[in-house]
Amino acid sequence: MKAEDVKVMIADESHIKYVDTILSTIAAAAKVRGTGIAKRDPEYVKTKIREGKAVIALYGEEFAGFSYIETWENQEYVTTSGLIVPEKFRGLGLARKIKHQTFMLARKRWPEAKIFSLTSGAAVMKLNTALGYLPVTFADLTHDEKFWQGCEGCVNYEVLQRTGRRYCICTGMLFDPNQKMCMEAAKRELKSEKKSFWKRFFKSTND
Ligand SMILES: CC(C)(COP(=O)(O)OP(=O)(O)OC[C@H]1O[C@@H](n2cnc3c(N)ncnc32)[C@H](O)[C@@H]1OP(=O)(O)O)[C@@H](O)C(=O)NCCC(=O)NCCS
Repeated sequence: MKAEDVKVMIADESHIKYVDTILSTIAAAAKVRGTGIAKRDPEYVKTKIREGKAVIALYGEEFAGFSYIETWENQEYVTTSGLIVPEKFRGLGLARKIKHQTFMLARKRWPEAKIFSLTSGAAVMKLNTALGYLPVTFADLTHDEKFWQGCEGCVNYEVLQRTGRRYCICTGMLFDPNQKMCMEAAKRELKSEKKSFWKRFFKSTND
């Protein structure tokens, strides 16, 4: 199987049927990693899809990857969340493609927003770094309670609580559009993607 055989696109109503598969794949991956899981309501994910805030990868009709975007603190902060690629499709560069698309969606919709990530995953750290995210302390992330409630299902939640939400196992990373070095890194990383992505994006929103 080649990466070119997998289509990565903005999800729409026709992809609602994949929501159960998406959520069970995320749950199974969290079990393997031993991280616990941020509970995701199927209705919430469906809404993200309907709002054009999700990206899906398909190999024919087969589910091959997913992620969506969320806003926090009156859209001052954005996260690209729930990134998942089923084992069978890993190592093909699909997570990078999906991350590019969710990142560009976020930049397009909320150009002033800071985009952040809280992760313990090496792959995600690499992707974030390439896009210009910088490591930061938790104080630089959103203070939105709803975001932090997502940590409650994690096996390390006790650490976060004990440190008064200042430290935990995950690394905080932040893309600040006001920082030149962040913007320059993102431009470099997205150079090859941009044209084809927006062509497809406008096509899918006009259909
Ligand atoms: C993390 C995940 C999305 C990566 O998907 P993928 O399609 O295999 O990733 P890609 O092929 O696009 O690789 C992206 C980069 O990460 C690196 N990478 C991938 N998996 C890695 C791993 N397990 N450890 C270290 N680096 C890894 C790749 O080498 C690549 O970097 P490079 O371009 O510098 O070589 C996938 O393994 C997954 O779904 N895991 C379970 C869920 C999860 O951890 N989600 C992230 C939540 S924070």
